[in-house]
Amino acid sequence: MAFEGTTAIVTGGASGLGLAITEALAARGTKVAIFDIQADRLEAEVARLRGQGDTVRGHVVDVSDRAQVTGAVEQTRTELGPVLILVSNAGVVQFDRFESITDDLWERVMAVNLRGPYLVTQAVLPDMRTARWGRIVNISSSSSQGGQERMAAYVSSKAGLIGLTKALALELGKDGITVNTIPPGMVVTPQLLGEISKGNFTNSLDHFAKLTPVRRAGRPEDIANATAFLCDDASSYITGQIIGVNGGRRT
Ligand SMILES: NC(=O)c1ccc[n+]([C@@H]2O[C@H](COP(=O)([O-])OP(=O)(O)OC[C@H]3O[C@@H](n4cnc5c(N)ncnc54)[C@H](O)[C@@H]3O)[C@@H](O)[C@H]2O)c1
Repeated sequence: MAFEGTTAIVTGGASGLGLAITEALAARGTKVAIFDIQADRLEAEVARLRGQGDTVRGHVVDVSDRAQVTGAVEQTRTELGPVLILVSNAGVVQFDRFESITDDLWERVMAVNLRGPYLVTQAVLPDMRTARWGRIVNISSSSSQGGQERMAAYVSSKAGLIGLTKALALELGKDGITVNTIPPGMVVTPQLLGEISKGNFTNSLDHFAKLTPVRRAGRPEDIANATAFLCDDASSYITGQIIGVNGGRRT
């Protein structure tokens, strides 16, 4: 089973890392369905990618909603064939002192960042089990390796995603399905730039680059290239791993 010509779902693929991952998979001949909640951006990016010849579909989906996920996975199967690659990338951040976190905020962060991957993985697994081949990549966060002030809900949700990755790798390996996680550090995306402009990071990108052994912030392509490799046949002996793509910081 080669991953060219197979079908992938990338959640949160209308922007940032998910968009770069979609482009990297499509460039290798993978058909991609993007699940994203931002309808306008999704429509624009899907039109652009289809204009350059990629086989890409967009579905407006909130990954925390089981009915929406199930419906969009079913439609993807019908339009593009069985789903053998899943990249769970959709995520939301929060920056609040621990005492200020409300139940609603805690539950929303957990719903998107942890329940989302749980729901989408359950929905696509029958295809992977039937094919006895599958690739699942969960985009977590390096903040779960080192901790991060004012991000307790986010860090907890991403640590949960690392746990989900490890548990699933043990459960699914015998069926030819690998499950890995990439925990990005600072990668320049609309989300990161937005949070910097709101003052949510005390350090500038330049300062961050100085703390990073390779002396630069991450680019979406850095994460996308590693993700594409983890979706390839060539990575069949890598599972249950936290693959740091971080310029050498927080390894
Ligand atoms: N950029 C970084 O430095 C960095 C660092 C560590 C981890 N991450 C993680 O990488 C992932 C991508 O981040 P990014 O920087 O590209 O962010 P981004 O905001 O540019 O992209 C996230 C995408 O997820 C979508 N999304 C949000 N909630 C959703 C939902 N409920 N259902 C479906 N889609 C939803 C958004 O619409 C958006 O298109 C996130 O999980 C983020 O936590 C990013």
